[in-house]
Amino acid sequence: MCGIIGIVGSSPVSSRLVDSLRRLEYRGYDSAGVAVAANGRLERRRAEGKLRNLEALLVEQPLPGTTGIGHTRWATHGAPSVRNAHPQMAGRVAVVHNGIIENFAPLKAELIAEGRRFESDTDTEVIAHLIDRELSGDVDPLTAFQAALGRVTGAYAVAVLIQGEETLVLGARRGSPLVVGEGQGEMFIGSDALALGPFTNRIVYLEEGDSVAIDHRGARIFDRDNVAASRPVRVVSAASALVEKGNYRHFMEKEIHDQPDACQHTLSAYIDPITATVSSPGMDFATVDRLMIVACGTASYAGMIGRYLFESLAGLPTEVEIASEFRYRDPALYPGALCLAISQSGETADTLAALRWCKARGITTAALVNSHESTMAREVDVMFPTHAGPEIGVASTKAFTSQVAALTALAIAAARQRGRIDAAEEARLAALLLEAPRLIADAILDDGWILPVAQEIAKARDVLYLGRGAMFPLALEGALKLKEISYIHAEGYAAGELKHGPIALVDEATPIIVIAPSDALYDKTSSNMSEVIARGGRVVLITDAKGASHAPDGATVVIAPACDPLIAPLVFAVPIQVIAYQVAVLKGADVDQPRNLAKSVTVE
Ligand code: AGP
Repeated sequence: MCGIIGIVGSSPVSSRLVDSLRRLEYRGYDSAGVAVAANGRLERRRAEGKLRNLEALLVEQPLPGTTGIGHTRWATHGAPSVRNAHPQMAGRVAVVHNGIIENFAPLKAELIAEGRRFESDTDTEVIAHLIDRELSGDVDPLTAFQAALGRVTGAYAVAVLIQGEETLVLGARRGSPLVVGEGQGEMFIGSDALALGPFTNRIVYLEEGDSVAIDHRGARIFDRDNVAASRPVRVVSAASALVEKGNYRHFMEKEIHDQPDACQHTLSAYIDPITATVSSPGMDFATVDRLMIVACGTASYAGMIGRYLFESLAGLPTEVEIASEFRYRDPALYPGALCLAISQSGETADTLAALRWCKARGITTAALVNSHESTMAREVDVMFPTHAGPEIGVASTKAFTSQVAALTALAIAAARQRGRIDAAEEARLAALLLEAPRLIADAILDDGWILPVAQEIAKARDVLYLGRGAMFPLALEGALKLKEISYIHAEGYAAGELKHGPIALVDEATPIIVIAPSDALYDKTSSNMSEVIARGGRVVLITDAKGASHAPDGATVVIAPACDPLIAPLVFAVPIQVIAYQVAVLKGADVDQPRNLAKSVTVE
């Protein structure tokens, strides 16, 4: 995750850009840079390392002008260095960018073939060249900007300067957050409201696919189809600026929408898109004979998904243990075992106790945590980070998908380290995984299916969730989400288990939510759906377009983006989160703080 800022100001801009970047350092800080449009030119200053290095450079080599952009970087494409620091420039264009451009390699090859020269390893530089190329077609800057972005796939937020346009900053978001700030005769754009706190508290939250042109007169906003759009202005208090709900009704809704950015930032800790390699920092899985995953609740379901991948990709025997049960069964331990705890908070007492039990018996311990300074993070031998950012809603959403993303990356790394896949397969799997942020963003888009499905579920007393393979843990997660925020009883089952008893529960009052992408298991699951429908059960089928074309008669079909089975748990997590959220809203439940629950359960 990186931080971006843009200012169309009425006073010297470079120190104001730095003030804003200081508020964005939590999003990454391996290099930083600013650029201004002044005196008919674009000028740039960049420095590796902490922001203070950029500040020192600006003292020696100050920048003029009142309009500029800035960036603090968490490296995804290309090692941390000055030449890979943003702003990236090409011709008349300077760009700062947060996100991943999935198709940067073919675009870069296309541009090089036209004779364009690149100075960095970054994907961002491709955007600068695309805009610069469009400008040579003698079109206005906004049109060139929008046309260039039309060539790009991925999850991103960008801010752009154009040479000669000294009161204009362009911006756009797809899958990563971007806000506009309204000042007195000045306008701002940034990764979040916190970044704009020194300048204004009047914030406009851009929506998925929006682009914007800001100048002294204000902001012109355009939707995903480049049609003029208006977005509400909100007054955001400084105190809530870091964790504010924005346009969302609840933190849970915001955090569902944060998932593309959280997934992309988490993946950037494990995948190098330039070398198409995947790493497991601090752990060589070739030295691991057995993996014991310990976790609670949603985190344990992430672990169950990880188990499918560690075993199928890496051939690593893996078990997933409910942490609160683990040590009381006095489990057989193996000298070459690795105990991996999964925890958003890093403080869950049951999970911590299981970790300590293993550590006391000489087992190597690791923790996949979102809180990098937590007790678990400090006590284990190896800490694997997720980068979901603060998760305020008690019901886990972006933490869960970030855990699944990290586990998928670690399973690929383990497969490579254990000699199960070659470099080409590692690169192929890495590329598939890097598609997840964009496909999660697509899954979040509501084409009108949510409300009718939620209205049906909200009337139910009991709900069953079914899935096969990696969709089985997702069925468990979907049931937990519904239970914990809407208080409707729900159970998740392996779809094949239904006929061994639970089918007795099926009647016309019991919705059955079936999670079934059109993968190798679809036909088997389809038979289960027919069994349910034949008994008067009401099926809600969550599938992709291909699965929808084979849906059993009578099923209500929800279509999620088609995706490779490797990332189906990430993409299909969204519909089950959204169903639970919308049902809870319909029932007037306290979505962010459901009764009887706590965000981190620090008692056994
Ligand atoms: C998930 O929605 C719940 N809030 C709960 O199951 C949670 O996942 C569990 O308590 C584990 O918390 P942790 O990830 O912080 O360890």
